[in-house]
Amino acid sequence: MKPLRISIAGLGTVGGGVIKTLQARGGELSARGGRTLEIVCVSARDKNKKRHFHLGDIPWVDDPVALAHHDCDVVVELIGGADGPALALAEAALGAGKHVVTANKAMLAEHGAELAALAEKNGAALKFEAAVAGGIPIVKALRESFIGHGVHAVRGILNGTCNYILTQMEATGRSFEDVLAEAQRLGFAEADPELDIGGGDTAHKLALLSSLAFETRPDLSHMTVEGIAHITPEDIGFAREFGCRIKLLGVARLTPHGVDQRVGPAMVKAGTPLADVEGAFNAVVADVGAAGPFFFEGRGAGEAPTASAVIADLVDIARGRFGPAFGVSAANLRALSPASAETRRSAFYLRFEVLDEPGVLAEIARKLADSGVSIESMIQRGRAPGEPVAIVMLTHDTPAPAVARALKAVAASDKVLGRPCMIPMEAG
Ligand SMILES: NC(=O)c1ccc[n+]([C@@H]2O[C@H](COP(=O)([O-])OP(=O)(O)OC[C@H]3O[C@@H](n4cnc5c(N)ncnc54)[C@H](OP(=O)(O)O)[C@@H]3O)[C@@H](O)[C@H]2O)c1
Repeated sequence: MKPLRISIAGLGTVGGGVIKTLQARGGELSARGGRTLEIVCVSARDKNKKRHFHLGDIPWVDDPVALAHHDCDVVVELIGGADGPALALAEAALGAGKHVVTANKAMLAEHGAELAALAEKNGAALKFEAAVAGGIPIVKALRESFIGHGVHAVRGILNGTCNYILTQMEATGRSFEDVLAEAQRLGFAEADPELDIGGGDTAHKLALLSSLAFETRPDLSHMTVEGIAHITPEDIGFAREFGCRIKLLGVARLTPHGVDQRVGPAMVKAGTPLADVEGAFNAVVADVGAAGPFFFEGRGAGEAPTASAVIADLVDIARGRFGPAFGVSAANLRALSPASAETRRSAFYLRFEVLDEPGVLAEIARKLADSGVSIESMIQRGRAPGEPVAIVMLTHDTPAPAVARALKAVAASDKVLGRPCMIPMEAG
């Protein structure tokens, strides 16, 4: 059989990993693919950059978009960015009938449905296992393996940087800012960390998981996104006292009101699979109807895990194993029918910073009760009278709008300092 001719655009962490793996395990991988996997061309920004792998005599092309018209079967897009050369390359390659493998969640979250349609129109594959949770094969699982009973909910720790920061804050009692600075020094966080800590990266991945699970077009516009910068070591300590851990989760679930998509900090009961995920690891739980929940955990980023996922896609293409990018034909991907955030309900963790004065607790309790919020348990620690102190509560299962109303009323009190913190409870 003819070799599978592969062009690679982007030779950074992921691209370098793919090249090294193909070079190191070419024989085994060709056996898996039923044909030789051959790199025929590469491109990146700077030809003269020193790289930690050898390109040998692989031809170099300056303009990555030109790879779409090179003599190859597959274009591997590993440049990144929702638009720009990554999108131009994906469009040109699919338009020319070439298969595309990418790790680019930002591009797919924004343009996934259009690219999937273009791939189908031209008989090409569009594959993206590395775009969500690195080496964890969750894309394939949702697209192909869980279809028997259908997926009702998918939730996960999808950003290793945030999980690393939260785990370190818990282990050391240090502040968010301190741990973030250390993570940047150690290379666990980007110089500009906003996409990670603000929840945007998790949102991109959740949009793809949601699309695969519910046969809808990736949709970032109907998603609540909140980051972790406001979480304090005290929150993490209180969570532990309530038998919970705080995790940044992406959650998408089918509800009677539509699909609910949320990214944000969540209280997760200690001892459940997601609560126990440590450090920079990723994890996903898929609720698969009568088949029950399935739990995946593993490395969500880095050279080897992402290369592993890209290679798996390449081997599938070599074998001719590919169908629609999101599991159903692009024409059958529905527009997402969103559940309003108003329909959410759960238990909530609430933290109020208050002046330590008589009557404050009674006032907060009354305002919560007035909005129909009942308290399951509470922690209050006194300091010197007149000094700020935290009052922390766990509510019973309550509609989110009732809690929001109560917090607004409480925040209006002159004894309450700053904005109250509200974190929903999630299944782990
Ligand atoms: N890193 C991970 O662990 C990880 C995990 C999952 C998904 N991803 C996704 O994988 C993709 C690549 O990530 P990465 O971490 O490998 O990125 P990276 O290390 O920053 O590498 C990016 C590569 O793209 C090239 N490039 C950037 N801008 C370009 C341009 N305008 N024209 C041509 N080439 C350009 C760079 O060229 P030079 O080398 O010449 O500068 C570099 O080789 C992204 O979509 C990312 O979201 C990454």
